Amino acid sequence: MLHFPVLLEESVDFLVNDMNGHYIDCTFGRGGHSNLILSRLGKKGSLSSFDKDPFAFKYGQSIKKDNFKIYHDSFQNLSKYFKNNSIDGILYDLGTCSTHLDDAERGFSFNKDGPLDMRFNNQKGIPLYEWLKDADVKEIIKILYKYGNEKHAKLISNAIDITRKKRPILRTIELSNIIKDIYPEKNTKVHPATKSFQAFRIFINNELEEFRSSLDVAKKILKKNGLIVTIAFHSIEDNIIKNFFRPEKKVFPKDIPLNNEEHRKFKCLAKKIRASEYEININNRSRSAVMRVFQKL
Ligand SMILES: C[S@@+](CC[C@H](N)C(=O)[O-])C[C@H]1O[C@@H](n2cnc3c(N)ncnc32)[C@H](O)[C@@H]1O
Repeated sequence: MLHFPVLLEESVDFLVNDMNGHYIDCTFGRGGHSNLILSRLGKKGSLSSFDKDPFAFKYGQSIKKDNFKIYHDSFQNLSKYFKNNSIDGILYDLGTCSTHLDDAERGFSFNKDGPLDMRFNNQKGIPLYEWLKDADVKEIIKILYKYGNEKHAKLISNAIDITRKKRPILRTIELSNIIKDIYPEKNTKVHPATKSFQAFRIFINNELEEFRSSLDVAKKILKKNGLIVTIAFHSIEDNIIKNFFRPEKKVFPKDIPLNNEEHRKFKCLAKKIRASEYEININNRSRSAVMRVFQKL
């Protein structure tokens, strides 16, 4: 199955307001947003897209347009490629693509049997099965709580520990069954491994740290009035965005006159935009998406 771009028109309508502007799509995926951005640009406008995933990168290379370039790199490295105050708009459509979940060999899916990998860039770093071999139990618990809000983190980590003492956990279905078997609530609407798989994926790809450091660079390379459009799929990502753009609270002595606006570097243009019912009906994944838009002042 191909990837359905989420909040496609809504995000690109905000992002592109100058056909001759310079834009970045930090998360190319299968090019849903990138293609629409390109269709809105004139010859002087340009789009640079990023993706860590080698398959996404390869797909991007098939777009032959003079004003388009794809980089096989993490969006945390934007500063390697762009100068300060040079970009008109930056898009982040976070998380995984359906193409990751559909391909069992990538190891993202808890209901398709494949190697327990989960790396966006499977040419770098270590797959989850490797890390799980001797990861500290306390570390596993922390990851499940922090990145998955999994209330049964201790139970799951102990079950992983007991199993790996007998045999290495190498396959997605093995991990998924370990979690399902010990999960206290039976017959839950969502699969008991959902939160754990999300947590391990976020951890193995260093998703939140890379996103946070990318935002630090994004705010510098944007021009004045430039836009950052973010689409997040869970509250952990969304909280990073909200906190990042929250104006700093500075405490000053009462007698020093202070224009609080001086400390506001970004203005929120849209908060908590959600997919329409129509979109949710055709793409269930869009139900959890939250879009926010910020403008550099
Ligand atoms: C939700 S998909 C994007 C889908 C895309 N907007 C589309 O419409 O086809 C997210 C993509 O971001 C990529 N990605 C995740 N973290 C990344 C990072 N730190 N740097 C670059 N790409 C990343 C993933 O590999 C995935 O392909």
